[in-house]
Amino acid sequence: MRLSIVAATVLPLAMAPQAASAGGDAEAGRRVAEQHCSRCHVVGDFNPMGGISSTPSFQLLVKRRPDYRDRFETFYVRRPHPAFLSIKGIGRPLEYIPANAAPIELPLEAVADILAFVETLKPKQK
Ligand code: HEC
Repeated sequence: MRLSIVAATVLPLAMAPQAASAGGDAEAGRRVAEQHCSRCHVVGDFNPMGGISSTPSFQLLVKRRPDYRDRFETFYVRRPHPAFLSIKGIGRPLEYIPANAAPIELPLEAVADILAFVETLKPKQK
C-alpha cells in the first residue's frame, strides 16, 4: 500500500521535467488555469475575490517561490492535486478518486501552457 503511493508520486516526478519542457502557449495556459484551477486558486486577475482562502494564489507562488517553475511543472503530483487531477498517461488512473471529487484530466501540453501563462504573472521588475 505504502509502496504504491510512493511509486505513484515518485515516478511521475521523475518523468515530469523532460515531459513538461519550456515553450508552452501562455494563452492556452490561461484558459486551462481559469477553467480548472480557479476553483481553488486565485488566477491572475481572473478571480481576484475567488479561490479558497487557504490555497495560494498563482501570483503569490510566482512572486514568493524561487522554484515556482518546478512547482508548476510537477503540480499534478503535489498534494492535494493527485486526489482529483491527473495528466493523461501519467500517474494514477482517475477511477481511484473519491466519488465526491470533481475529477480533472489534462493533456501533458497543458502543464507547459500553464507554466508559460504563470510567467506572465511575474511582478514587473522595479
Ligand atoms: C481542489 C482545489 C485545487 C484545485 C482545483 C487546484 N489546486 Fe493547486 N493547490 C491547492 C492547494 C490547497 C494547494 C496548497 C498545497 C500546500 O501548500 O500544501 C495548491 C498548491 C498548488 C501549487 C504549489 C504546489 C507546491 O508544492 O508548492 C501549484 C503549482 C498548483 N497548486 C497548481 C495548480 C494548477 C496548475 C491547477 C489547475 C490545473 C490547480 N493547482 C488546481 C488546491 C487546488
